[in-house]
Amino acid sequence: MERNKHVGVGFRKDFAEEFLEGKDLTPAFLEVAPENWMEIGGYWKKVFNKVAEQYPIYSHGLSLSIGSSEELDWNFLKKVKSFLQEYKIKIYSEHLSYSKCDNAHLYDLLPIPFRWDAVKHISERIKSVQEFLERKIAIEIVSYYTPVAAEISEVEFISSIVKEADCNLLLDVNNIYVNAFNHKYDAKSFIENLPLDKVEYIHMAGHEQVAPDLIIDTHGEPIIDPVYELFDFTVQKLPNTVPVLLERDFNIPELKELQYELNRLENICKKVWNYEHALA
Ligand SMILES: [Fe+2]
Repeated sequence: MERNKHVGVGFRKDFAEEFLEGKDLTPAFLEVAPENWMEIGGYWKKVFNKVAEQYPIYSHGLSLSIGSSEELDWNFLKKVKSFLQEYKIKIYSEHLSYSKCDNAHLYDLLPIPFRWDAVKHISERIKSVQEFLERKIAIEIVSYYTPVAAEISEVEFISSIVKEADCNLLLDVNNIYVNAFNHKYDAKSFIENLPLDKVEYIHMAGHEQVAPDLIIDTHGEPIIDPVYELFDFTVQKLPNTVPVLLERDFNIPELKELQYELNRLENICKKVWNYEHALA
């Protein structure tokens, strides 16, 4: 089967062997969390080296905690840097949130208040990280469930950080769908107002509606049709082709089912991007 050109999938130990042995899943690339793979040895290091020989690897970090107030973890970043270099990883993305408080990991991605002082603080931190890593990073708009103490709009908050820090954006179309539903705003106009020329990477995922007015971003279900539709809209608005990732963290189905979702996304990319632009 021909490999997808634009759409990749998160690489997981759960299906590593089946993936390497079979032909059911043909992603354009694989995404990993550096935290899960950068300090491994033995068997899993061999497996990882094997997939990295065959597929481009992109990365999505979990614990940078760009929104926290304590000092950045330089020791951690040093390991990330050598991991990115070792495997020639083109994209390092992270969440626009915080997950650490007083140096304790909270194991959740907490939203940052949409305020000017936060814009300044986070932009400075992103700049320091980029300087240290000698590359731009892509920050992801996260889903959030509680109203945060806002003094500016979410779009203004994100756009200002991207401009001030001179970083890239990871556009998670499902997160925007979830936020727009939960906080009752229009997802399309939200997307149109983002700095779309800075989008380096797209995430797509499934979610779960748990109440008539509440969706939880679970990454444990297939993508629903309205999110495909929003993806189609987004791809049409982008000035450049970008890699697209299918995130699936729970309830992992048969690899054929994942491939079905990859193909649906790939077909939208092809339709809009006219087959012309292979993933650089
Ligand atoms: Fe995401």
